[in-house]
Amino acid sequence: MEQASSWAGAGAGSVGGAGEHRITGGGEAVRGRVAGKVAIVTGAARGMGAAHARALAREGATVAIADIAPEPGELLAAELRAAGARASYHDHDVTDAAAWTALVDSINQTHGPIDVLVNNAGVQVRSTGIEADDEEWEKVTAVNQRGVFLGMRAVIPGMAQRRAGSIVNVASVAALVGLPGSIPYQASKAAVLGLTRGAAVSYGPDNVRVNAICPGLVVTTMTASASPAAVDALKAQIPLRRDGRPDEVSAAVVFLASDESSYITAAVLPIDGGFVAL
Ligand SMILES: NC(=O)c1ccc[n+]([C@@H]2O[C@H](COP(=O)([O-])OP(=O)(O)OC[C@H]3O[C@@H](n4cnc5c(N)ncnc54)[C@H](O)[C@@H]3O)[C@@H](O)[C@H]2O)c1
Repeated sequence: MEQASSWAGAGAGSVGGAGEHRITGGGEAVRGRVAGKVAIVTGAARGMGAAHARALAREGATVAIADIAPEPGELLAAELRAAGARASYHDHDVTDAAAWTALVDSINQTHGPIDVLVNNAGVQVRSTGIEADDEEWEKVTAVNQRGVFLGMRAVIPGMAQRRAGSIVNVASVAALVGLPGSIPYQASKAAVLGLTRGAAVSYGPDNVRVNAICPGLVVTTMTASASPAAVDALKAQIPLRRDGRPDEVSAAVVFLASDESSYITAAVLPIDGGFVAL
């Protein structure tokens, strides 16, 4: 599942603290902005989560890919290991409280204590307004809201004990402005901001930082079902006049995961080409 690394951290986008060295539990030196940190990224088998896993690995982190998609998840873990990183795939449903306990135990044993949690897994129910049925509501709320709570509940005690930890919760611009349709999705993402602020003020005294990012339009499997006309109409409204790339979101994830952001907690960061300023 995982393997030792001497990854040189020479990937694109290395700025700031690049070149920092840390000695991992295995005794080897790793370099990068998150050198030697152990990170869980949920929903990392595909889409933006995969980009976050790649970026964190490139910057020296050990990455645990947690998803319900074993085929792409195992492939990504193998890709990261082939590049010299420490990485593992874990079949993990973020809505399952017992699975969180098992995941944290397993990572503690194989990789060491968890420094970073990126609560990225999310589901979208497209084009539903108030007619969203109970099943849709339950699914969206379970993954996007409860999943984030369960993840924080699982990792914060260890982080607080070690007085070190950074959690990045993935919300959305849909938490900041009203958008037509997808009311359960918007509610779940607004809840992510509440979870972020509540955890940040509760565990700041333990040096556990909790921040939220709010991506705008980023083309992934999640947005693939949207009509090209709808995507074009949205792009025309974005001040930068384009969609974002997953790696542009990953840049913020690496920053918030790293010690470069050591005095930033409870922040809500739009990554949206200026969309919410309209
Ligand atoms: N794509 C966008 O434009 C956009 C904009 C704002 C916010 N977001 C948010 O960013 C995050 C990533 O979105 P994406 O576009 O990469 O989506 P995606 O659909 O491409 O990927 C989501 C991943 O989450 C995994 N997942 C779903 N349910 C899960 C569960 N119960 N347990 C574990 N993993 C689960 C999926 O298997 C998939 O690999 C989501 O939280 C999403 O709401 C996306």
